[in-house]
Amino acid sequence: TIVESVIEKVDCIYERLRDQVIRMGTSTGSESHIFFVFGASGDLAKKKIYPTLWWLYRDGFIPEGTHFIGYARSQITTEKIFENAAKYMKVKDNERDLYEKFVKLNSYVAGSYDKDEDFKHLTNEANQISNQESAHRLFYLALPPSVYGSVSELISKHCRPKSPGWMRLIVEKPFGKDLESSNKLSEHLNKFYTEEEIYRIDHYLGKEMVQNIIVLRFSNQILSRVWNRDSIAAVNIIFKEDIGTQGRGGYFDEFGIIRDVIQNHLMQILSIVAMEKPRSTKGEDIRDEKVKVLRCIAPIKPEDVVIGQYTGDKNSKDPERQQGYLDDKGVPKDSTTPTFAQVVIFINNERWAGVPFILRAGKALNEKKAEIRIQFRSTPGGMFDDDNHGSDPNGKLARDELVIRVQPNEAIYLKLNTKRPGEMGFSIEETELDLTYGNRYKGVKLPDAYERLILDVFMGSKINFVRSDELEQAWRIVDPILEEIDKKKIPVIPYTFGSNGLNEAFDAARKHGYIFR
Ligand code: NDP
Ligand code: BG6
Repeated sequence: TIVESVIEKVDCIYERLRDQVIRMGTSTGSESHIFFVFGASGDLAKKKIYPTLWWLYRDGFIPEGTHFIGYARSQITTEKIFENAAKYMKVKDNERDLYEKFVKLNSYVAGSYDKDEDFKHLTNEANQISNQESAHRLFYLALPPSVYGSVSELISKHCRPKSPGWMRLIVEKPFGKDLESSNKLSEHLNKFYTEEEIYRIDHYLGKEMVQNIIVLRFSNQILSRVWNRDSIAAVNIIFKEDIGTQGRGGYFDEFGIIRDVIQNHLMQILSIVAMEKPRSTKGEDIRDEKVKVLRCIAPIKPEDVVIGQYTGDKNSKDPERQQGYLDDKGVPKDSTTPTFAQVVIFINNERWAGVPFILRAGKALNEKKAEIRIQFRSTPGGMFDDDNHGSDPNGKLARDELVIRVQPNEAIYLKLNTKRPGEMGFSIEETELDLTYGNRYKGVKLPDAYERLILDVFMGSKINFVRSDELEQAWRIVDPILEEIDKKKIPVIPYTFGSNGLNEAFDAARKHGYIFR
């Protein structure tokens, strides 16, 4: 069947990838790798990094001879790290032996983030563990940004492998708080690392449907012909979460939803949706086009921004939903940090002039969802004006819309008008050409975003990582409104935990020509 043949093809691709990974070590003259997890005692390490390393190991993607070393200040043990991460590991009964083997490849070293001797000690430990001073070294900084500076400097000074081993530094967002601090961080990293060595992670670039945008756009003539202002009325990029800040309020309050989600995840999606066709699939060609399109965007104007902050739903039976943002322990009682924001962006180039890109993100809403909605212009002509248009509230033909659902339930569907089946005359109904992955590709496992990205770092592929000039452009676009928000010049509208969003945002999207149905 088609599904079986798809699974066979995917298995075959995995097989080739595994071969590549396994060959990787020997082809560069070094035989082993060491993967360091900085901040091994923390939340990201427990929820994402250790589970991802296990899944990659389980699936045969980690090169032979790799060791994993956790590092943080806490006096803990490897056992404790794995105990904390246990519920995220998803180990099946028949994988127990393999899992034990993986755990044995792990060690933990405790030390500070700012003392030379601790980093010298770490490198000595690493040399002993891998028994090879030239083992390739990958460093994952799962740490608060306040310590990136000292940690990156001390790693470069004391923990580089001997030749021919290479080193790669994986840096988590946020990359700074604004254009200035981001540039400072970049300058600092540039002092100690080549751009080649730095992997700025944005995990949305590891998601299946985000990666798929490139294929969808540039391998289908039917789409590339209409992907412009002549046919497209508006683009909506939406991020919704049905959870609040859940104890991360301390971090969140300093950043807010624009820095946390829009400046990075949504702006990355925008640049892939809007860029010109890259010359090739090479990382640099793609990243060049992403930067080019970002350069065509003027900074967002305050009048194109709507922000909000969630309050508890006192009528909810769920204790979490009863808590408003200000009830989070880490959040000051008078905080005006936005947990919801909508910004409207215009790209001043020949393809997109005048088309609004509406980026909307919110926490504590009614559902978890991320999607891209490309809404096409209304169908001209009055031919069907007298007919029954089904559910369309405007009494007009519904607009065609291409929806790429990033999560959950990955899907691509195209909303179209069709003749209502079985009825006489031209009764029109809106329907979908539906490619829901769960139905079409049953049994095909879509790897988690972190799995793909960590594998990319092992392989040295930078397509899905953020280059410093992309970062600079993204900050430039949001910087002025962040300043306005920080100075409390934009009103923060309250919304109830579990609501769909802010009506003010939907009205603003309508004003820019987006039609809700
Ligand atoms: P944590 O707050 O859990 O910090 C990680 C570790 O850093 C802690 O275990 C602690 O280790 C150390 N640490 C914490 N605060 C400080 C401090 N003020 N000074 C020095 N060391 C400190 O962070 P997360 O794991 O949540 O996040 C790590 C990075 O990943 C951040 O940049 C975050 O923005 C990013 N990120 C996190 C996500 C998540 O879901 N958690 C999602 C996406 C990105 P010790 O005390 O043992 O040294
Ligand atoms: C992170 C943000 O980058 O992305 C979080 O810091 C957010 O606030 C998370 O919850 C969402 O990621 P995902 O993959 O669950 O959509």
